[in-house]
Amino acid sequence: MAGTGTDSGAGMVAQRPARGLEGVARIPGDKSISHRALMLGALAIGETRICGLLEGEDVRRTAEAMRALGAAIRREGDGVWRVAGRGIGAITEPEDVLDMGNSGTAARLLAGILASHPVFSVLTGDASLRRRPMRRVITPLATCGAAFAARDGGRMPLAITGTAAAMPIAYRLPVASAQVKSAILLAGLNARGVTTVEEPVATRDHSENMLRHFGASVVVSEDQVGGRVIELAGQPELRAADIVVPGDPSSAAFPLVAALLVPGSAISLPGIGLNPLRTGLFATLAEMGAAITISNRRISGGEPVGDLAVAHGALVGIDVAPERAPSMIDEYPILAVAAACARGVTRLRGLAELRVKESDRLAATMALLAGNGVAVENEGDDLIIHGTGAPPAGGGMVATGMDHRIAMSALVLGLASVAPVAIDEARFIETSFPGFAALMNGLGAAIAPL
Ligand code: S3P
Repeated sequence: MAGTGTDSGAGMVAQRPARGLEGVARIPGDKSISHRALMLGALAIGETRICGLLEGEDVRRTAEAMRALGAAIRREGDGVWRVAGRGIGAITEPEDVLDMGNSGTAARLLAGILASHPVFSVLTGDASLRRRPMRRVITPLATCGAAFAARDGGRMPLAITGTAAAMPIAYRLPVASAQVKSAILLAGLNARGVTTVEEPVATRDHSENMLRHFGASVVVSEDQVGGRVIELAGQPELRAADIVVPGDPSSAAFPLVAALLVPGSAISLPGIGLNPLRTGLFATLAEMGAAITISNRRISGGEPVGDLAVAHGALVGIDVAPERAPSMIDEYPILAVAAACARGVTRLRGLAELRVKESDRLAATMALLAGNGVAVENEGDDLIIHGTGAPPAGGGMVATGMDHRIAMSALVLGLASVAPVAIDEARFIETSFPGFAALMNGLGAAIAPL
């Protein structure tokens, strides 16, 4: 599936457009919410209708996997999908290995579902996903009674022998991870009793919101210092519920930063998800001097949504505290691009988790900047970027390392640099943002195949 659509082909190159970016950017559906909609739809009784589903490669993998577990899933039209669920406890054993492609979210959340069902399964993925740590879900999920076998270092392929009598898990997350939290909650759906997850720092709560939307009882209590305890009552009857998926704020980040950086730009981005645990980038850019306006705030399908508008403007460097990380964990590469074009030093603190994303994003972000004439340093888990306020030199060829966000960040840098910026491989953009180059060019960008 990777390699289809407008962003296929080997490399791509982006250069400064003659004029500013203008128009309306219609952002594809939220990736996190799309995965969860398919999974919970498949575990609910009845037919769930999803509008605005992200039709990227990662989410298609989840659809395939839920089909292999017995759900009937069909595409009705553009972003409109129907999922006929089997109910909790009723999934069937997959006949073959489940290939989750590039998607850590798909693999980890699915591992949670599989752990508490009496089926044998094997999960694998592409070379990027097979390098990523799975022990962070194996350790808590094993306490429900499931058995796991993985490669050295807890890497995929991962074999799971699920249990017929799952114990409810009680676990305090050692790292801030919505994927680990969600895997445990999904396992708890088929456990007797109350599953409890304690997170020292709040992470995106789409699972909690959507579980409630499907009729589960989820109780959340907050402590004084930003942590949360989430309690899920086991074996609820999930009832099919329609879902409207908002535009993905993590995808909106790319045209939004491009508009900030290209002189003369003014764009709008309607219908973007504004879950407060996802909007760290918007707050950070505002602190850097960006004028981002949000209008028509509303609640859609249990999630806050709004329309964004942004215009070109000068940015200044700032110090970004590590506490910001969970609310913009996927946005650091594009934030680093914005910082490279700002005036002054930006210090991004506490980025350890970036090392275990689709690529080692700390190293990849440094290489992306350094290869295009930006002064950048790494101290421990911090990234320090020295912006001059003038456009970076550009001219580099960026190795994307199977990482969609590095690919898109590099192309946005190319739109703002003196010389064009090229990427070695564009096809992984399809995992999260199908049609990225076409959308950007529709706004006036200059992105072309190499
Ligand atoms: C996601 C959680 C984040 C994020 C990923 C999607 C999710 O990962 O990086 O792109 O949908 O739960 P972690 O929770 O592991 O940080």
